[in-house]
Amino acid sequence: MKILIINGPNLNLLGTREPGIYGNRSMENCLDTLRSRYPETGIEYFQSNHEGEIIDRLHATGFNDGYLGIVLNAGAYTHTSLAIADAISAISLPVIEVHISNVHSREEIRHRSMISGVCRGVIAGFGLDSYRLAIEALLPQK
Ligand code: DQA
Repeated sequence: MKILIINGPNLNLLGTREPGIYGNRSMENCLDTLRSRYPETGIEYFQSNHEGEIIDRLHATGFNDGYLGIVLNAGAYTHTSLAIADAISAISLPVIEVHISNVHSREEIRHRSMISGVCRGVIAGFGLDSYRLAIEALLPQK
């Protein structure tokens, strides 16, 4: 089975972007670690800085029962995008909302999520390990 990880805007800069908040590991490094930890699971990755491309990818994968679910870090669109929330509602796969930082300990504008209510659950604040925790949440329980 497969899992799709989607990263939204500015997350292509992980490793160099605000390392005090997001750390200094790149997403490629995180993906290498995840793929060697979960060799049986096909971990696909998509990143876009464009809201519509994120929605298109949710639609393209969201009805495919070859996937366990989608791990989504929508970046700043988390706080603004009713369109991404509607796309998550429209698809059949479960979506886990992920944040690297603890958005609740940051500026008030980051406390509100447009997508939490339509996601299976939310993981925030564990650095890049948040992605592993979201994968664990999608894998069948042993
Ligand atoms: C983020 C938190 C968002 O508030 C921010 O806009 C991001 C990254 C995180 O992973 O901590 O781009 O989603």
